[in-house]
Amino acid sequence: MSSENTVTFADEARRLDETDPLPTLRGEFLVPPAPGGPHPEAAYFAGNSLGLQPATVAGLLREELDDWARLAVEGHTRARRPWVAYHELLREPAARLVGALPHEVVAMNSLTVNLHLMMATFYRPAGSRTRIVIEDSAFPSDSYAVASQAVHHGLDPARTVVRLRPRPGEEHLRTEDILSFLEREGATVALLMLGGVNYLTGQLMDMPAITKAGRAAGAAVGWDLAHAAGNVPLRLHDWDVDFAAWCTYKYLNSGPGAVAGCFIHERHVRDASLPRLAGWWGTDPSVRFRMEPDIAPPASADAWQLSNPPIMALAPVLASLEIFDRVGMEALRARSERLTGYLASRLAAVRGAEPLTPADPAARGCQLSLRVSDAGGLVARLAERHGVIADAREPDVVRLAPVPLYCTFHDCHRAAEAIADLASVSA
Ligand SMILES: Cc1ncc(COP(=O)(O)O)c(C=O)c1O
Repeated sequence: MSSENTVTFADEARRLDETDPLPTLRGEFLVPPAPGGPHPEAAYFAGNSLGLQPATVAGLLREELDDWARLAVEGHTRARRPWVAYHELLREPAARLVGALPHEVVAMNSLTVNLHLMMATFYRPAGSRTRIVIEDSAFPSDSYAVASQAVHHGLDPARTVVRLRPRPGEEHLRTEDILSFLEREGATVALLMLGGVNYLTGQLMDMPAITKAGRAAGAAVGWDLAHAAGNVPLRLHDWDVDFAAWCTYKYLNSGPGAVAGCFIHERHVRDASLPRLAGWWGTDPSVRFRMEPDIAPPASADAWQLSNPPIMALAPVLASLEIFDRVGMEALRARSERLTGYLASRLAAVRGAEPLTPADPAARGCQLSLRVSDAGGLVARLAERHGVIADAREPDVVRLAPVPLYCTFHDCHRAAEAIADLASVSA
């Protein structure tokens, strides 16, 4: 290529940023300063762990603090967003985000708590149908949660929990293998609970096919959507999922430890016979303050609520969902595929960093995981020398999430250059 028509990678990345059909919303987020390197702002790729703060969060929080100062207890009914019904504000945008009917979702608690609440209802071992199926590379909290549920029912976790493993020499679970497992052994499975997007490899599971097969086998099917909500489009109602839960501090940018989300399919919210752990926020609001001893659960996911919700923690979720509602998951996913595809193609040329995430865009979200020789060291040097923030899962996995709301093609260019600079050195 002659020098006059040589387009540098940086120029190409800038051109892609200028011409992308969905320009970045970076300006709506507080991007941290770069810890090192030539650029003032970080290239932030750790949104799969903790998303960036939307600029509107502080204002919304300020309003709640002011209402608390001004109104004290009266704020429950007279705040500009009355606290007694605050969680209602999140229902419709959360439902749109995960493809649910409004009465199928509720924002409450944190993710692991919600998984336990869901298992209290949907994990009902009986006869020879006692097993809980998860993936071998499930997030540890899920492993602990399902083992403790087995113990809670007087069962031995070693015999009750089945961990699905990829074929020898492979990194990802094949849908066909999950389906044939369910065909063979489905009669023993009480609950199938997998991650929609695997936290380590970034693999996006075929949720509709697996849900269908799990339910056909007679199991309850729940999804941990920590790495899927806000990352990939979801149609939980249409897929006939029994339940799902997700955190909001990753792709949903609602802050550390933010209030989580929960989905319960419509066919269950009307079923009064289901066992539930209960608290006063799970009774119908029209009778809640009669303070009677018998619960009257509404025919909605709200019936699984326990306590009155933390308003200060819900405000950031509200701010964040407004952005998702405005942009729409389909447009965001399209931009996400462009960004992740670009980063993947740049990283393909790098020595010393093996791709761990599926190459097929339909089988991944935005996260790309790389196998390297010293993940912690590489991540530290990426930040110090290049201002690129990624995260390490020791000993050998680095995860990079080009989050489509606030990451740019130029950020991806910076990450690719930085990894090319450092990975082959540490290989
Ligand atoms: C896939 C997955 N499941 C569960 C959890 C636990 O979340 P929490 O601490 O909000 O319960 C995480 C946290 O990162 C996660 O990534």
